[in-house]
Amino acid sequence: MIIAIDGPSASGKSTTAKGVAKFFGILHLDTGAMYRAITLEYLKYLDISYDSQDFIDLVKEIEINFNRDNQITLNGLCVEQDIRKQDVTSKVSEVSSISIVRKKMVEKQREIARNIDCVIEGRDIGSVVFPNAEFKFYLDAKAEIRAARRLKELTNQDKSVTLDDLITQIKRRDFLDTNRKISPLIRTKEATIIDTSSMSVDEQIEQIVKIINNK
Ligand code: DC
Repeated sequence: MIIAIDGPSASGKSTTAKGVAKFFGILHLDTGAMYRAITLEYLKYLDISYDSQDFIDLVKEIEINFNRDNQITLNGLCVEQDIRKQDVTSKVSEVSSISIVRKKMVEKQREIARNIDCVIEGRDIGSVVFPNAEFKFYLDAKAEIRAARRLKELTNQDKSVTLDDLITQIKRRDFLDTNRKISPLIRTKEATIIDTSSMSVDEQIEQIVKIINNK
């Protein structure tokens, strides 16, 4: 069983997907973390262009996995904290729009979820990665509310960022994620839309669990 949860950044996907996976005792796969990990690696080599052989090699050689605690690893090292930092967040929409990056990540996502039950969250799960997923959800919320959620999550290092900065950043990422040529963020017609603007995490999890159990 594949449960696909798509939606824009900070719409509540991660916490909800985690909760739903825990309820059913199945794997939670955070595909955004994978795009963040490859961006973290790219930040070390900002002088290489996306169409260069060096970039192709970087993508080819990179090893992105999840450890036993379901934390993301980059070339064998846990990068769960580093991938949430502002420099990664500012660059990730750009890196994730590159076709060789998407090809590699989608292959890996299909490999991880092959033959197992899994809650997978991202932007293109119900549309591209698992178009035949048994359950598809699309979570959304107003940009201002999503930015306020992000502000709460910021680490001490990122405390100089204001709510207005985050609203601007979220709207920019929404634009890039929705308008890119390959696998843009879209609501598939089969997806159940959940507006999380005034919902608690528990309510979001409950609503999804209820829909699944009713089928
Ligand atoms: O869910 P998130 O904010 O951690 O995702 C980070 C970025 O990764 C997001 O701006 C777009 C990209 N992404 C993507 O292109 N496709 C996915 N399936 C998941 C994330």
